[in-house]
Amino acid sequence: MRHPHRFILLTVLLATIIALPASGQQRRWTIGMSQCNLGEPWRVQMNADIKKAADAHPELTVIFKDAQNDNLRQGAHVDEFVRAGVDLIIISPKEAAPLTPPVRAAFKKGIPVIVLDRRVLGNDYTCFIGADNKRIGRAAGAWIAKLLGGKGTIVELKGLMTSTPGQDRNAGFREGIKGSGLQIIFEADMKWLEPNARREMESALARFPAIDLVYAHNDPGAHGAYLAARAAGREKSMKFVGIDALPHEGQMYVKQGLLAASFEYPTGGREAIENALLILAGTAVPREITLRSRVFTKDNLATGGEWLSN
Ligand code: FRU
Repeated sequence: MRHPHRFILLTVLLATIIALPASGQQRRWTIGMSQCNLGEPWRVQMNADIKKAADAHPELTVIFKDAQNDNLRQGAHVDEFVRAGVDLIIISPKEAAPLTPPVRAAFKKGIPVIVLDRRVLGNDYTCFIGADNKRIGRAAGAWIAKLLGGKGTIVELKGLMTSTPGQDRNAGFREGIKGSGLQIIFEADMKWLEPNARREMESALARFPAIDLVYAHNDPGAHGAYLAARAAGREKSMKFVGIDALPHEGQMYVKQGLLAASFEYPTGGREAIENALLILAGTAVPREITLRSRVFTKDNLATGGEWLSN
């Protein structure tokens, strides 16, 4: 034998692996986490929440992949996780339709899948975790109608309308303002991105001399709109409302007086790990886990916001 030490090392390694469960040691689990992009602070926070929760469990290893806002790349990441034989997949998909087949394939192979924040189509996943975007949209609509005394002109800057939070934040908002005198004079899909929101707002400002409020589907969008209005010298004549309410983003904008309100959109990172542990232990989890949300305004910021009721 040319490398007897290698042989011994291998034997010891194998024996250790085989002996582990018998000696009562805990099994190790590998989780694949597919993130649609890390370009926005909210998603960086989601990954940090997942990492923090997983770090408290030495038996967990999480492999993070960033699809850089590319559906095809994200689908390939899911396929890679399947080929690597991970024990569970967490995915926050970019768009519902293109990510449905890879998620379904993983699930059909027997790998548990937790879908986080944005949905896929159909039912081929283990568990969905996220806040209720329709409810957030509805609450934003009702809050805005009250703020403006039931009348006024609105610009709606929508999130990617092929992703489910964009659809729900739009539909919920329309329900929330129904019956009021609020008028949506301009709407555009800014695809969740601040530079797009800024550009769309420039068009809105050029077309409409009177805008009372901008409802943006996320805080980067609301901030982009604010910057456009400020560049046009009109930021004081209108109000801005966003969604996400990260402490260092939306909540800070509220504190600085840039936004009238920001509605919380929890990342669900901690809950994803909690439920992953249950699934890996063989415990059934609900198919749908709905996270609660708060609204932050300058009046309630110091006291931790107000929970949504409707
Ligand atoms: C980040 C983000 C958030 C938004 C969420 C919706 O990519 O745009 O701002 O709340 O995605 O899925």
